[in-house]
Amino acid sequence: MINIIVLKGSHAEAYAKHLMIHAKESGIDGNTIHYPLSKLPNADNTKIEKCKIAWNTKPGIVGWSRVWGLLVDEEIVGHIRLKGESDLNEIHRCDLSIGLIKKFRRSGWGSRLMETAITWAREQEFLYWVDLNTSVANKSALNLYKKFGFEEVGITKDRFRVQGERIDDVHMVLDLKNENYLNR
Ligand SMILES: CC(C)(COP(=O)(O)OP(=O)(O)OC[C@H]1O[C@@H](n2cnc3c(N)ncnc32)[C@H](O)[C@@H]1OP(=O)(O)O)[C@@H](O)C(=O)NCCC(=O)NCCS
Repeated sequence: MINIIVLKGSHAEAYAKHLMIHAKESGIDGNTIHYPLSKLPNADNTKIEKCKIAWNTKPGIVGWSRVWGLLVDEEIVGHIRLKGESDLNEIHRCDLSIGLIKKFRRSGWGSRLMETAITWAREQEFLYWVDLNTSVANKSALNLYKKFGFEEVGITKDRFRVQGERIDDVHMVLDLKNENYLNR
């Protein structure tokens, strides 16, 4: 049984472990580099507590975040996260990140996660924009984001250097109050 649910505090440890596994897949066995940072995510108590606090924070209040998990039985095999900005004057924006364990890709689940999160975001009166960043080389992600109405607003050349590879980073935005999106 595979389904998408909003993660609660009781899922925080499994989520942190999923992020570790997902980050380790980055750039190996011919995969595109989707995790360009030097420090891998960890599943320590501090990280788990941070998740719980953010998920218990009301959307629209500084510090909020919401994560939907793709679950196979009790195992998290994919996620999408919307994270509110950290300053009150940016509270009308949030940041999106998504990832699936390799064997669950290309079966429509990435699209289902996007639909779930974007539909929820559109229902939040306080939210106007969704931001995200990804590598110029990550064609799967770029195609997915464009399909959901995200537009490129800029490229930071040579933002990361991963094992000698220069990563150009794209910033994309989705205008949540643009009704044209609904007719796409
Ligand atoms: C990007 C990602 C979330 C897509 O999820 P997915 O479940 O494979 O996507 P779907 O099967 O729903 O496909 C949706 C669209 O994405 C694009 N896409 C997905 N995989 C692709 C591939 N290998 N090549 C080109 N386009 C691809 C296509 O536009 C596709 O639409 P189509 O089926 O009509 O062609 C997934 O590849 C992933 O987890 N990648 C690693 C993590 C990552 O890159 N995260 C985002 C950047 S940080």
